[in-house]
Amino acid sequence: MKKILIAGNWKMNTNVESSTEFCLNVLEITKNMDLKFTVLICPPFVNLGNCISILKDSNVTVGAQNCWYEEKGAFTGEISVDMLKSVGCTYCIVGHSERRTIFGESDEIINKKAKALLKSGLKPIICIGETLEERNSGNTYKVLFHQLDNSFVGFSEEDWKNVVIAYEPVWAIGTGVTATPEQAQEAHHNIRKYVAEKYGDIASQSLILYGGSMNEKNALELLNLDDVNGGLIGGASLKVDSFVSIINSAEQILNS
Ligand code: PGA
Repeated sequence: MKKILIAGNWKMNTNVESSTEFCLNVLEITKNMDLKFTVLICPPFVNLGNCISILKDSNVTVGAQNCWYEEKGAFTGEISVDMLKSVGCTYCIVGHSERRTIFGESDEIINKKAKALLKSGLKPIICIGETLEERNSGNTYKVLFHQLDNSFVGFSEEDWKNVVIAYEPVWAIGTGVTATPEQAQEAHHNIRKYVAEKYGDIASQSLILYGGSMNEKNALELLNLDDVNGGLIGGASLKVDSFVSIINSAEQILNS
């Protein structure tokens, strides 16, 4: 059976009240579902606690959007992996394009974060993606393979079982312009092929999520693509109806 992960990336949205309301609604809708895949939400740090206390023992797991790789100490404003683990996080997004561009995160930092997460038993969702300029100048795979070479180094075979790749073309994030099914399948296929060549057979098992303006209208088609194992969803994950509709699309695919 196809492996699917539906992950909501809330970015810097919601507060305690609105995240609580979201979780209560999603809990009510999903509590009797027999889901054959993982559903994840990634709220801002300050809302992790209230979301996790509502969703513990539910069909929905909770992760973070970022972390720092050192164990503890003088890193004002940062959150360690151990802190995420102690609050009950299972996954953490790393290397989102907004972190790469706005906060200047390098592949090296992203790799250290991913390794720290894996060491503590959390699953990193490592994002890669090209800008429109890079795509238009024919450099899509140069960029993606460079990110795969440098953000994913030094993982053991065991680690690879817990690494999630998110292909997020930067030009599709928050723009309403989604990659076409052909563009998405081609990129996912080539990412899987490259991972297989470089890191071994484990690639056939790797989860490769698509991210970039996925919504309730295009999810079914995207999730149905051979090499797409789910979505990293921004805007549409903030509305209960859209998020649940995407969950239903995944369910439909696995039941067909
Ligand atoms: P979007 O964001 O769905 O709003 O395009 C996706 C992401 O940035 O992870």
